[in-house]
Amino acid sequence: MKYQFPDDFWWGSATSATQSEGASLQDGKSKNIFDYWYEIEPERFHGQIGPENTSTFYDNYQQDILLLKQLGHNTFRTSISWSRLIPSGDGELNPNAVTFYNSMIDNLLANGITPFINLYHFDMPLCMQERGGWESRAVVDAYVRYANICFTLFGDRVKQWFTFNEPIVPVEAGYLGDQHYPCVVDFKRAVTVAYHCVLAHAKVVENYRELKQGGEIGIILNLTPTYPRSDHPADLVAANHADLLLNRSFLDPVTKGAYPDELIRLLRDHDLLPAIESGDCELIASGVIDLLGVNYYQPRRVQAKENPTPQGQVNTPEDLFSFYSMPGRKINPHRGWEIYEKGLYDILTNLRINYGNIPCYISENGMGVEGEEQFITTSGQVDDEYRIEFIRDHLKWLHQALQEGSNCKGYHLWTFIDCWSWLNAYKNRYGFVRLNLADQTRVIKKSGHWFADVAKQKGFN
Ligand code: GAL
Repeated sequence: MKYQFPDDFWWGSATSATQSEGASLQDGKSKNIFDYWYEIEPERFHGQIGPENTSTFYDNYQQDILLLKQLGHNTFRTSISWSRLIPSGDGELNPNAVTFYNSMIDNLLANGITPFINLYHFDMPLCMQERGGWESRAVVDAYVRYANICFTLFGDRVKQWFTFNEPIVPVEAGYLGDQHYPCVVDFKRAVTVAYHCVLAHAKVVENYRELKQGGEIGIILNLTPTYPRSDHPADLVAANHADLLLNRSFLDPVTKGAYPDELIRLLRDHDLLPAIESGDCELIASGVIDLLGVNYYQPRRVQAKENPTPQGQVNTPEDLFSFYSMPGRKINPHRGWEIYEKGLYDILTNLRINYGNIPCYISENGMGVEGEEQFITTSGQVDDEYRIEFIRDHLKWLHQALQEGSNCKGYHLWTFIDCWSWLNAYKNRYGFVRLNLADQTRVIKKSGHWFADVAKQKGFN
């Protein structure tokens, strides 16, 4: 069977500024929360490797963009680093950053690759965090100003913008789970952070539309589909709680302009509602996006809690549900994550049926592999047949969703060159291109050649 994709389908990959640029404290960039956290607690990072050099895209972007071309990309997503562009958060521009991003965008376009630009990928400037981070409405204003500056500087050439990547992750990791700086564990503060990100998103969307630059604006969400352990009503309630808190808390406001009533009730029942100001609801209503990026790695399986948490004692989302490991599930043995290809189809079907078939694309999908050097052949290439199989099996389900009318416009792998992954640093490799950490050389993996061919043929057999 031939899996044929539309002629204008987006074939590409994604990365982020902090994870790929390196030069984290050079050419005028100020520290973001990851630069700072590494400075004070390097032992929290795998192999004690921090973000200062990551994969040196800042120095090598011209050659790297040529690699993207070799990988058959027609689109590529990265982010702008707020702390590079505006080192004080809300003051003067850094001219080196303006030069770098202009040149990066121009180079992509000159190579026939459309840049998709995200404005925020977990990387709060430290000076803004010191002023309250996303808990502060003044920081929201500074972010809105930063976004406007990006549109003014680059919007003549960039036509696909995203306000956030996975905004639930800084909420979960930074304010609930002690996995990102500022390592706060406080459900109510976490809800405020999420709420302010939605407000920030909406204001930026509103401003972008006023500029009439003729592009599209969206957001990238990790829409991890939630599957209950069984049809037992308690499992269904638990799965619904997880879905409301972790998916619909962003998906509904950005696609429908309002929060689900059920989510508001749930938060109110547990005294978790954030401070709401007049005008907020109208603002959220104007933040409806043009284009949704969907990141998908693994499903979320959920069961009811064995002992329900008493009213008044809910301190974390996991007081409302428990995670569940399904017996017999398929596992990526090199990373420990479940592989469930149909999840991608389920997300797209949900978007088609319940979210007006909003234009979307798969903005991240991918397979992390620990110890990938074991698959290097004598000719020096990584023989990553498992990654080819992973991508192919996901694309099959994407294809099925398209057959049924999904509005999915493309597929981006995470990521093009093995990159630094937050706490895990370089433990798991995800790229189409192998990065040699010792000398920063790059070698295209077998999957990279395969993907280039698929992009060229617009499909596979
Ligand atoms: C995503 C995130 C990326 C990358 C990826 C692979 O959740 O957006 O920044 O780290 O996971 O681990």
